[in-house]
Amino acid sequence: MKNIIVTGCAKGLGLETSKMLAAAGYKVIGISRTYTDEYNQLKSDYPQSVFFYQFDFAEVKEISLLVKKITKEHGRIYGLINNAAIGHDGVLATMHESDITSLLAINIEAPILLTKYVSRSMLLNRKGRIINVGSIIGSTGYNGLSVYGATKSALGGFTKSLARELGKSQITVNTLAPGYMETNMTDGLKGDKLEKIKRRSCLGRLANVSDAASMALFLLSEDASGITGATFTVDAGSTA
Ligand SMILES: NC(=O)c1ccc[n+]([C@@H]2O[C@H](COP(=O)([O-])OP(=O)(O)OC[C@H]3O[C@@H](n4cnc5c(N)ncnc54)[C@H](OP(=O)(O)O)[C@@H]3O)[C@@H](O)[C@H]2O)c1
Repeated sequence: MKNIIVTGCAKGLGLETSKMLAAAGYKVIGISRTYTDEYNQLKSDYPQSVFFYQFDFAEVKEISLLVKKITKEHGRIYGLINNAAIGHDGVLATMHESDITSLLAINIEAPILLTKYVSRSMLLNRKGRIINVGSIIGSTGYNGLSVYGATKSALGGFTKSLARELGKSQITVNTLAPGYMETNMTDGLKGDKLEKIKRRSCLGRLANVSDAASMALFLLSEDASGITGATFTVDAGSTA
């Protein structure tokens, strides 16, 4: 059974990805801040293959210990999905410095450190899959999301160079860039703004978590072994 780490596993896209992974026969090692009823249900449905580690990625200094614990308990890791992120919005000029610091720590520093430690397993195995969850905002921009957007395009840059570094060991690294999906993160986006996004997309709707999770599953599969250093946009055609 292939071990896959999913960060931010308990809600939204991470939860949907965890469900699909469990149904497809992977072992899901979920890491998130809050343990939700939905993830608990998934764990009960797959007691042998779904696990949960409660962790706050703001604690960047503890990440190496977390990875040590996970690899001791589960063995080497095949796949890593860097999905956990926060979406604080705000006009830069008035944004609290502490919000900026958290965005940088949780959305960039934590996935980089987690990947650093998890990639050691992959290098020993000479195979592996890393998926960094970016966002279309990393390339399109959006009013009030400058710092969030900076973190998401940083992840895209991380993907590209890391793909070059790890490719020799048959480890692929890709970015999954969703468009707007209705999750906790986009709770604030309602009414007119939401309708406008739907209207402007090719398909006349928003992307949803299962559209994006399906792409993550494909990137983990054998069929995707020749794909690395790329960005996969899943946005119902919003940016077409
Ligand atoms: N929703 C969208 O429209 C959209 C669009 C493009 C890209 N994305 C990206 O898709 C990914 C998933 O987003 P989502 O929409 O599914 O958001 P979500 O529903 O808010 O889920 C995010 C998950 O990450 C966890 N998380 C956040 N901060 C954490 C921390 N410090 N430590 C541990 N876990 C933490 C959350 O747990 P807690 O809630 O307990 O903190 C939650 O389980 C993110 O990378 C996001 O940037 C989302």
